[in-house]
Amino acid sequence: MIIVLDFGGQYCHLIARRIRDLGVYSEIFPFSIKLETIKNRQPEGIIFSGGPRSVYESDSPNLTKEVFQYILDKKIPILGICYGFHLIIHNLDGKIVSKKQKEYGKTKLEIIKSNLLLDSLNPTEIVWNSHGDHVKKLPPNFDILAKTETCPIASYANREKHIYGVQFHPEVKNTPKGQIILENFLFKIAHCKKEWELKNWIKESIKGIKEKIGNEDKVILGLSGGVDSSVTAALLHKAIGDRLHCIFVNNGLLRKNEENEVQNIFKEQLGFKNFHFVNAEEIFLEKLKGIDNPEEKRRVIGHTFIKVFEKKTLELEKAFPNIKYLAQGTIYPDRVETAATSKATAKIKSHHNVTLPDDMKLELIEPLKDLYKDEVRKIGLELDLSKEVVYRHPFPGPGLAVRCLGPIDKNKLEILKDADTILLEEIEKANLYDKLWQIFCVLIPVKTVGVMGDYRTYEYICSIRAVESIDAMTASFAKLDWDLLERIGTRIINEVKGFNRVVYDISNKPPSTIEYE
Ligand code: XMP
Repeated sequence: MIIVLDFGGQYCHLIARRIRDLGVYSEIFPFSIKLETIKNRQPEGIIFSGGPRSVYESDSPNLTKEVFQYILDKKIPILGICYGFHLIIHNLDGKIVSKKQKEYGKTKLEIIKSNLLLDSLNPTEIVWNSHGDHVKKLPPNFDILAKTETCPIASYANREKHIYGVQFHPEVKNTPKGQIILENFLFKIAHCKKEWELKNWIKESIKGIKEKIGNEDKVILGLSGGVDSSVTAALLHKAIGDRLHCIFVNNGLLRKNEENEVQNIFKEQLGFKNFHFVNAEEIFLEKLKGIDNPEEKRRVIGHTFIKVFEKKTLELEKAFPNIKYLAQGTIYPDRVETAATSKATAKIKSHHNVTLPDDMKLELIEPLKDLYKDEVRKIGLELDLSKEVVYRHPFPGPGLAVRCLGPIDKNKLEILKDADTILLEEIEKANLYDKLWQIFCVLIPVKTVGVMGDYRTYEYICSIRAVESIDAMTASFAKLDWDLLERIGTRIINEVKGFNRVVYDISNKPPSTIEYE
C-alpha cells in the first residue's frame, strides 16, 4: 500500500484515487502521522502531498524527526510533490527560496537526466505547476532530473536513498503524462504489486461482515435509495441475507414516485424480505409548517428523521431479537477530511446526513468507509444494482425542502414534483443525464402574471438548475441547448398547474451554491 501524507494540498484525495485506479491501495494520513501507524501499515512507498504553506515558515506542517528518520533508515521510497518536494530538501538541509516570479499553469518540462521516475517520457513534456517557492540548493547525492524555463530544479532524485520529487502536479489531468510518472513511482521504484481489485474487495468484505456479525445477529440500515446506502444494503444482503433490516422513511420530500420506485427495486427486484417502509410524510409536513428559514428547515428535518427512525428501530428491536448493529453508507471522503477540504467546508450549510444518538447501543458498521464514490459505483454494478441506482444524481438529505423555497406545503411540493418529472424526462430523452452532475427544478414562491388562452394567470416561478461538476466543491452551470430549454419550459408551463414562468439559472459555484437553501 501507499501512504499519502497530507500537508494541506487540495489534491490529496485525487492522488490517492489515482493510485487506486492504478491497482494499488492507498490511504491518506495527516502529516503528523505516528511512527506506529507507519510500522503497522508497512507501506511500499510514501507520497508527500503539496500544500499552500512555505517550508521555511516557523509553524509550517512537517512530520516528526523520528518519523522522517525512520522512513530514511528503512529506505521506504518517497515521492515529494510541490510542498512535499520542498519539505524533503528542507529537512535534509538543502535550501528553499521564495521567488517573485510564481509559476502557475501549464509549463514545458525538460528532462535532463534519464531516470526511473520520468522513464518513458519524451525529452520535453507539458506539466501543471502551481508554486512560488523553489529549490535553490540540493543536499549532497541528489541529482537534478528536469527543469523548466523559470525553475532550474523541477525534479530530483537520490537513487540510493529512493527519494524522488517533482515540483509540478503529476496527479492532475493537466499534466498529460502524470499517470506514467505515478506508475513509474509505484511499479519501478516502490515495486508495488497490482493487488487492489474491487472484485477481491467484495469477496473479502463479505467474508469480514459474516465473521463480524456471526449467524444470529441482525443489522439495521437506513436506506435512502441514494448510491451509498443502496450499495451498503446490497453488500450486507449478500453477506447476511434477510438478517438485514432496511428502514426506508418517506418524508414526503422525495422526487415524484421515488418512494415506490425504491421499494420496488429492493423488495421486488432484489428480493429483500425485511424492507420496512415508514410513511412519515404527514409528520414531516406538520413539523415543517410555516418554517421559512433554510437552516431551521434542515434542523427540523434532521431532528424529525432521527425521531422517526428511532421509533421504528425500537419497534423492530421488539419484533426481531438480536438487532445488534447499525449500518451506514459512510464513504472515504466523508470520513477523511483532508486539511484542504476541512477548511473549505467551513459550514456554509448544515448537512443532515444523520447519525443516531449514542444511547441506542447499536454497534456501527460502515463497510464502504475506505472507498471512493467511483469505487462504490463499480461495486454497486458488481452487486447487480441497476445503472439507474448506481449513477443517480446526488440528492440532498433534506430533499425537495431545500428546493421549495419559503414555507412548504403539500400543494407546492406537488407542483415542484410534477415539473421535476418533466425536466428529467426531457433530459433522459436528450441523453444528457449522465453528463450532468445534477439537474432539478426549484419552486420560487413569487407569483407573476401570464396569459393562457383567454385567461390571465398568476402563478409561481420555476427555476431550472443544471450543473456540471466533479466533486460539488465547485460547479458551473450547464450550457444547455436553447431548443431543449424551450421544450422543457413549454412543457412545464403547459402541463403543470402552478407554474406560468420558467427561468434558467446561470450562476456558478462559487459564489452561488448548487442547492438554493
Ligand atoms: P451545495 O448546495 O452546498 O451542495 O453547493 C453541494 C452538494 O451537496 C448536496 N447537498 C446535500 N447532500 N445532504 C446531502 O446528502 C444535504 O443536506 C445536502 N445539501 C446539499 C448538493 O445536492 C450538492 O450535490
